Amino acid sequence: DVIDVRPLTGKGLFTYDPGFVSTAACESQITYIDGDKGILLHRGYPIDQLAEKSDYLEVCYLLLNGELPDAEQKKAFVNTISNHTMVHEQLISFYKGFRRDAHPMAIMCGVVGALSAFYHDSLDINNAHHREVCAYRLIAKMPTLAAMCYKYSIGQPFMFPRNDRGYAENFLRMMFSTPCSDYEVSPVLVRAMDRIFTLHADHEQNASTSTVRLAGSSGANPFACIAAGIAALWGPAHGGANEAVLTMLEEIGDESNIPEFIQRAKDPNDPFRLMGFGHRVYRNFDPRSRVMKKTCDEVLAELGISDPLLKIASRLEEIALEDPYFVERKLYPNVDFYSGIILKAMGIPTSMFTVIFAMSRTIGWISHWNEFHSSPNRIGRPRQLYTGAKKRDYPG
Ligand code: ACO
Repeated sequence: DVIDVRPLTGKGLFTYDPGFVSTAACESQITYIDGDKGILLHRGYPIDQLAEKSDYLEVCYLLLNGELPDAEQKKAFVNTISNHTMVHEQLISFYKGFRRDAHPMAIMCGVVGALSAFYHDSLDINNAHHREVCAYRLIAKMPTLAAMCYKYSIGQPFMFPRNDRGYAENFLRMMFSTPCSDYEVSPVLVRAMDRIFTLHADHEQNASTSTVRLAGSSGANPFACIAAGIAALWGPAHGGANEAVLTMLEEIGDESNIPEFIQRAKDPNDPFRLMGFGHRVYRNFDPRSRVMKKTCDEVLAELGISDPLLKIASRLEEIALEDPYFVERKLYPNVDFYSGIILKAMGIPTSMFTVIFAMSRTIGWISHWNEFHSSPNRIGRPRQLYTGAKKRDYPG
């Protein structure tokens, strides 16, 4: 049931809902989730169908515009995105200001926010064309910026994007090619990368998307809003979980140690949680994790890798799904549980995992930001339940 409190605001009634467990902050037409049934729809299309039949740029078009593109619209969209992939030469100096061992998410917060300083020609948030151009710029430049973070961290020259390559292929090339050697990308890996992008594209009002919408509600420019989203995503309870899953699997180290970690996860006095398990909205299988597991199997088969961490992951999943603690709380593997293993197999370092999530989620963030500005809106201003000191006089 939905209680619309809009008519009551101003009359002194407000709700107290820590963690926004049951409070909608907006109306949206972009993504639908039924957490009990494990359903995720983008503009009405089930995520498993999109992951199987579509590709990331098509999903970007869908999220942004509300409909799938026809062949001509898709060609034009892909062309536009390809033409926006370069970043300003001066950004290179900005990268050079960071320590080489800086976490790539720290760099991403900075460089994405800094895009506001380069694109004064499209910052009128009330102008639909400007908003559209910002969306194109962000979708197109995120892989370039992300790959630059990686290259900077290992001291290799930045690789330019190539307009004749697809979105996922271009990203992998910019990560792994050097001026001396061209990285030959396997179509299976390209498809897997594209799927990871697609599966992370949007997830309605999660912490980072809500952050983007809230920042956007003040009229802040889109690059600053997306930088705020990247900051919110970084935490291990949200996007940082894919990095944390791998760290946890490495810490477990051997199947024989799983019971000890399960025990720790169940102990109310131990802050340890099974990373990649549980979700605020899903009380059933996350539909994305099924596709992710299948993709994981395909990638490992393609690369001929038998990853011991995957064995630990599979066993952990089996044990947890039979344990009354996890069953009663409806804690299932989420999308991050398998994505880390795929990325590791592709040779992507753990510190880049959340950056890849941020790249993928940029389309969700900017679609929500655009939806906010395309309809009547007002600044977001949550209230609080004050529990501090009563009024008192300054001593003396
Ligand atoms: N391991 C062990 N116990 C857990 C876990 C877990 N991963 N997740 C939740 N629980 C327990 C809680 O301790 C709590 O138990 P209690 O009822 O005895 O107190 C119960 O399950 C409910 O948990 P909440 O914290 O209330 O659930 P909430 O909705 O607030 O948190 C969250 C959701 C943050 C995702 C949580 O499940 C978690 O920390 N998971 C691990 C991190 C993770 O994988 N994050 C990725 C989320 S998906 C994404 O961002 C793409």
